[in-house]
Amino acid sequence: MQKINNYCWTFIKFLIAWATCVVIIFCCWTHKKTDLLAIPYPPALINFNTSSQYLSSNLASPCQLGNHIFELASLYGLSKHLNRTPAFFIESGYHKNMLDSIRSTMPGLIGKYAIFDGSVPTSLKETKFQKVCCVYENPWNLKRSQHEYLHLTGKFYQSWKYFPNMREELISFLNTSVQNFGILPISNNNTHVSCVHSRRGDFVEMNFYATDPKFMKNAVKFLKEKENYSKKNQKIVLFGDDFKFMRNLFSEAKVSTDAHESVEYYISQNSAIDDFLYSAYNCDEVLITAPRSTFGWWLGYFSKGDKVYYLDIKHARDRVYDNGEIAENDFFLPHWTPLKFAAAINFTVVESGKVD
Ligand SMILES: *[C@@H]1O[C@H](CO)[C@@H](O)[C@H](O)[C@H]1NC(C)=O
Ligand SMILES: *[C@@H]1O[C@H](CO)[C@@H](O)[C@H](O)[C@H]1NC(C)=O
Ligand SMILES: *[C@@H]1O[C@H](CO)[C@@H](O)[C@H](O)[C@H]1NC(C)=O
Ligand SMILES: *[C@@H]1O[C@H](CO)[C@@H](O)[C@H](O)[C@H]1NC(C)=O
Ligand SMILES: *[C@@H]1O[C@H](CO)[C@@H](O)[C@H](O)[C@H]1NC(C)=O
Repeated sequence: MQKINNYCWTFIKFLIAWATCVVIIFCCWTHKKTDLLAIPYPPALINFNTSSQYLSSNLASPCQLGNHIFELASLYGLSKHLNRTPAFFIESGYHKNMLDSIRSTMPGLIGKYAIFDGSVPTSLKETKFQKVCCVYENPWNLKRSQHEYLHLTGKFYQSWKYFPNMREELISFLNTSVQNFGILPISNNNTHVSCVHSRRGDFVEMNFYATDPKFMKNAVKFLKEKENYSKKNQKIVLFGDDFKFMRNLFSEAKVSTDAHESVEYYISQNSAIDDFLYSAYNCDEVLITAPRSTFGWWLGYFSKGDKVYYLDIKHARDRVYDNGEIAENDFFLPHWTPLKFAAAINFTVVESGKVD
């Protein structure tokens, strides 16, 4: 009996050890799969019968700064059009991060928003709007909404048509309190600054068109001929997420954090807000080499010269464009200039015709 009991006990211990192992492995496995930042916060407490009417939307909060600015600029523009107060619900950790990053880069923009701490209450009805990222939808049907809280299902809102004629106001929202441009050149009567944005990183994996080195190199050549304005100095400043890529293409470039030296090419390693401010003060024009990059888009939109060249998206192999989710005239401003290679086997960069 004693022996059997002993045997049982050993067996039970073995089972417990096994079960613990299984639980630990399971927890590790599911923990990896659970994205803590995505866990929804409890519903926000909101008041009804206030004197305001609000406009809010789903947001692509896990995305990056350029996407965040599009969403908040567009919802602000829309709310002006609809005579509503734009509202931001802090629905998760991602929303919290998005709010923090907008607060530090464009405090004036988020200052226009009513902030609600928590998820959108389920009692609020959603209104369908903005099905794809980059096609403008006319908001005429939203005008008729009587909802005190108008909450939209869409995301991204990547069209300047949601915030027409608001460039100066949006520039004024940038946080100018700290500025550190390093040794990047100053645009003035003697110096013309061309800014070139590139994007590699996850664009390569996501089947978004990432900067083609040959296009970048030859488009810079195009700019140097086209934009020389007989000023004494012409400077090229490169921006992008892949330092090695830029360094390989322009090995003679100096980095913004280097000791001061006057050269022709520079690579910015400054923060996002410093890049926006630098563009607003110094970029006489901006070249966008990855046409889907929203960071490149804003660099161009904020630029001193308000002059932008971009790779014609028709000539870029981009999954979202191929799916018909981008209307070129909604995404790129009418006065921006598309570029392309001269021919299939001629890599000279030339202007591309616009289709209306
Ligand atoms: C708001 O006011 C209307 C009429 O003034 C009333 O019928 C309604 O119950 C109020 N709603 C809430 C949530 O208090
Ligand atoms: C602007 O940025 C600085 C530096 O990141 C930050 O300390 C400051 O709070 C920001 N200004 C506003 C108004 O948010
Ligand atoms: C730059 O040129 C403009 C127009 O030619 C002139 O009015 C201005 O004084 C110049 N600025 C400087 C700093 O030389
Ligand atoms: C400036 O551009 C024009 C026309 O594109 C060209 O003829 C001229 O040689 C260029 N000047 C310089 C200094 O590169
Ligand atoms: C390539 O295209 C450019 C611009 O159209 C043209 O000037 C050049 O002669 C072409 N080069 C060749 C080798 O065809």
